[in-house]
Amino acid sequence: MDRLLVTGGTRLSGSVRIAGAKNSALKLLAASLLASGRSAIHNVPRIQDCLTMSEVLEHLGAEVRWYDDTVEVDATDVRSVEAPYELVSRMRASILVLGPLLARFGRARVAMPGGCNIGSRKIDLHIRGLERMGATFVSAHGFLEAAASGLRGAVISLDFPSVGATENVMMAAVSARGTTVIENAAREPELVDLADFLIGRGARIDGVGTPTIEIEGTDGFTPVEHTVIPDRIEAGTFAIAACATGGRVVLEGARGDHLDLVLSKLAELGADVIVTEGGIAVGLDGRARAVDFVTLPYPGFPTDLQPQMMALLSTADGTSIVTENVFESRFMFVDELNRMGADIRTEGHHAVIRGVPRLSSAPVRALDIRAGAAMVIAALAADGVTEIEDMYHVDRGYQDLEAKLTALGARVRRERERTPALS
Ligand code: EPZ
Repeated sequence: MDRLLVTGGTRLSGSVRIAGAKNSALKLLAASLLASGRSAIHNVPRIQDCLTMSEVLEHLGAEVRWYDDTVEVDATDVRSVEAPYELVSRMRASILVLGPLLARFGRARVAMPGGCNIGSRKIDLHIRGLERMGATFVSAHGFLEAAASGLRGAVISLDFPSVGATENVMMAAVSARGTTVIENAAREPELVDLADFLIGRGARIDGVGTPTIEIEGTDGFTPVEHTVIPDRIEAGTFAIAACATGGRVVLEGARGDHLDLVLSKLAELGADVIVTEGGIAVGLDGRARAVDFVTLPYPGFPTDLQPQMMALLSTADGTSIVTENVFESRFMFVDELNRMGADIRTEGHHAVIRGVPRLSSAPVRALDIRAGAAMVIAALAADGVTEIEDMYHVDRGYQDLEAKLTALGARVRRERERTPALS
């Protein structure tokens, strides 16, 4: 259980290269299972979640090789259709193997993921969508067992534009018989990246990036090489961190078109933002102004940047109101921020943040990936040395965080937990 020691008070300054998107790479790795043959995926971030997905694929029988940020998956010898609890409990995204396994083998057995630190996170929409395509599900002994003797195309109208449900259904539909239409589909850039990867393998998909996706089933999959899109959440995290310290950073490789609303919120709170072909420059002189925002599925403000933005608004001039619409328990980290002197009250899915002039260091915990990133941002802006426990959460989503922060001038140091000596 590593802890990060952050000495606050330094302005971030310089350039940082943005890694490939975690939430895209994970799905591309899962989609490699769809057919035998080799896929090469470039720009994969070497973070714990991608290593866990590699383990899931290997457990199923795939051969996975990492060369720097390229991952080659050969899914020819996949024999098992079971994703065990040990792996699914480490990372919920393991359930994304459900669609590809069902499509390829007509069977899948995936441990039920359970809740996590941001909410109960049901998978009913995944199941209902695949049922519409002819799959049947039985839940027993903590496993979800799916079977289908030939999936067929269907019209699937999602109650909520769930990213995971859209992805699982899309991966199953590419090799189903006939046409599948997903209505009220998610529109996240990572989903567009998955569709591009599938199209590269020979799938026929239209309308991705809009609320209605049409997929024509096919069985002619070919090997593909694909480069993962830049991680908009990592880029947003560094942009917010720069603003929280009154600094200025260049986010190399970040895509402005994936961060429209985030960048306009940063501009509203006083930041200057320049988007170019090669990246985004963001800086803020002095104190942020208070702003209100609500999280919504893409193209709305991303829930995955809500905690980081709350950390920034903790020291804004004025009172901000934040509404979380995507996850039911994504304010749990607020108590940690308040321990650092923030003044935040929550009521249901609303939070009222009264900006204070400065945060003060305290021992705090990272409760999940993004809550942990928020604590790092708060610590960078606080007086004194903040100790952040449970950094393993943050390591699931951010590649080389300390090295990148150090290169921007931050004073951070990791302490590794020592095993107590036996007496
Ligand atoms: C993806 O999770 C991301 N994870 C999350 O990133 C991200 O926060 C989320 O999308 C929203 O953008 C990955 O891509 C691996 P959803 P996912 O299905 O697919 C409810 C991070 O920090 N729901 O769109 O699980 C659900 O409970 C992570 O990187 C149902 O009710 O998100 C939630 O309230 C965390 N039934 C809402 O929909 C279902 O069957 C959104 O979930 C599915 C979802």
